[in-house]
Order: sequence, then C-alpha cells, then structure tokens
Amino acid sequence: MKPSLLILVLLAVASTGNAATEYPGCIAIVGPGAVGGALGKRWAGAGHRIVYGSRTPDSERVRELVAATGADARAMTPLAAAQACDLLLFAVPWEAAEESFKGLGSLAGKIVIDANNPLDVRDGREIALPVIDSAAERLQAWAPGARIVKAFNTLNWNVMENPSIAGGPVSVPLSGDEADAKSRVAELVRAVDLVPVDVGPLRTARYTEQMALLYVSLSVRGVPHEFHLRPR
Ligand SMILES: NC(=O)c1ccc[n+]([C@@H]2O[C@H](COP(=O)([O-])OP(=O)(O)OC[C@H]3O[C@@H](n4cnc5c(N)ncnc54)[C@H](OP(=O)(O)O)[C@@H]3O)[C@@H](O)[C@H]2O)c1
Repeated sequence: MKPSLLILVLLAVASTGNAATEYPGCIAIVGPGAVGGALGKRWAGAGHRIVYGSRTPDSERVRELVAATGADARAMTPLAAAQACDLLLFAVPWEAAEESFKGLGSLAGKIVIDANNPLDVRDGREIALPVIDSAAERLQAWAPGARIVKAFNTLNWNVMENPSIAGGPVSVPLSGDEADAKSRVAELVRAVDLVPVDVGPLRTARYTEQMALLYVSLSVRGVPHEFHLRPR
C-alpha cells in the first residue's frame, strides 16, 4: 500500500473509532427520509441519541431534521454513522440498498433494523423489484456478521410518527434469527407506542415485504389507505 493511501485508511479508522466513543448507546439511521425521520424523532423523544447517516449531512433538509430531532442528534456520512453506533436502522429506496449497505463498512455484531420493501413506483404503477428471497435475507448475505431484524416495513411513516391516527394498537412484525437482537428491537418498537410481534426467523420477511405492494398499488390507483396491522 502507498504511504499516502495508508495514512488515509488510518485517518478513516481513527475518525470512525472516535465517533464510537463519542455517541455511546446511539441509534444510527441510514436513510433520513420519511421512515428514518419519523422514527428518529420518535426515538429521540423517548430518550435515544440519534445519529443520521446521509449522503448530504450538511444539506438544509438534513439540518432541519437534526434540529427537529433534538439537541443530542447529529448527522454525518452513512459510513461514519453506521460505525458510530452498535444499532442501526437501514431505510433507503430498495434500488439504492446494495450500494448504500455495502458502503457502511463492517457491520459485524451490529443490530441492523431493516425497514425496506423491495418495490418501486414507475410509469404510474407499482413494481415488485426482483429479490429471490427477501430484502432482509439480501442484507444478511451482504453482511453475514450483522444481526438483521426485519421491522417497521408493514406500516406507513405517518403511523410511525403518530400511532394514534390508527385509532388503536398497531402491530410491528419482527423477523430475525437471533432472539437477543429481536428483543432489543422489540424495546424500540414499544418505545414508539407500537406493539412488537415476533413472526419467526428472518425468512418470514418474505411474507411481510409483500404486504406493502398492495398498499402502494392501492395508492397509485387513487384509493389510498392507511397501512398497518392491528392485533385482535
Ligand atoms: N414511506 C413509508 O411509509 C414506508 C413504510 C415502510 C417501509 N418503507 C420502506 O423504507 C425504505 C425507505 O423509504 P422512505 O419512504 O423513508 O424513503 P425516502 O423518504 O425516499 O428516504 C430514503 C432516504 O434514503 C437515502 N438514500 C440513499 N441512497 C439513495 C438514493 N440512491 N436515492 C434516494 N435516496 C437515497 C436518502 O437520504 P440522503 O439523501 O440524506 O442520503 C433518502 O432520504 C424503502 O425501502 C421503503 O420501501 C417505507
């Protein structure tokens, strides 16, 4: 390795290492959009420290989100945010997911909450984007050492922001292969007044990811619905 490259690598490692000690117990949110912003503000309100990971951390949009989230919130690059925290929410458009996720550095041992649904809207209709298994299992394949938990993909962002609009309790199905990771995520679900429901191993994300297609399909056909599951 050239000396200049070595210095750059050492500086990168040092800067992410500093962040790790600077924001103990933080939640990184990669993708500070509708879902990331709604959950970031709610978790901050419940006492959690939020570190947003944005491609444009200094943009006006992200600055406004940081200000609305609270004094402890920060924004940095996706890589720096993911390395700063032991737990992260990953919520980006699925088409951008592979490049974005693979740019987050080592996620070994980290809990990754996967809120993504592999779909898009093009030419006025919903499109199911190709995954042979599920988005959650793709993330697991891209980061084998990460502890992936599927969650928050079966309700729309405005219900996350204000669950009372649902008029009653709202379930959040959790799919994952690790009981400890699921129980940490269940606490974060309860922290925003939603009801965690363990629906099984990570492969059960295949079922919940398909639910959003119907919701989006109805929306683009001009029959918008609120989208959430309700426990009996
Ligand atoms: N909207 C909902 O109600 C809802 C509900 C459940 C699940 N989901 C799922 O959650 C994920 C995020 O949805 P969202 O509605 O929060 O999306 P969004 O509002 O479009 O925000 C996604 C964020 O991802 C980041 N990003 C990274 N790479 C990107 C790229 N190439 N193009 C565009 N944005 C990029 C952007 O942040 P920076 O520009 O700051 O980097 C953006 O703010 C999706 O997979 C979606 O299916 C959405």
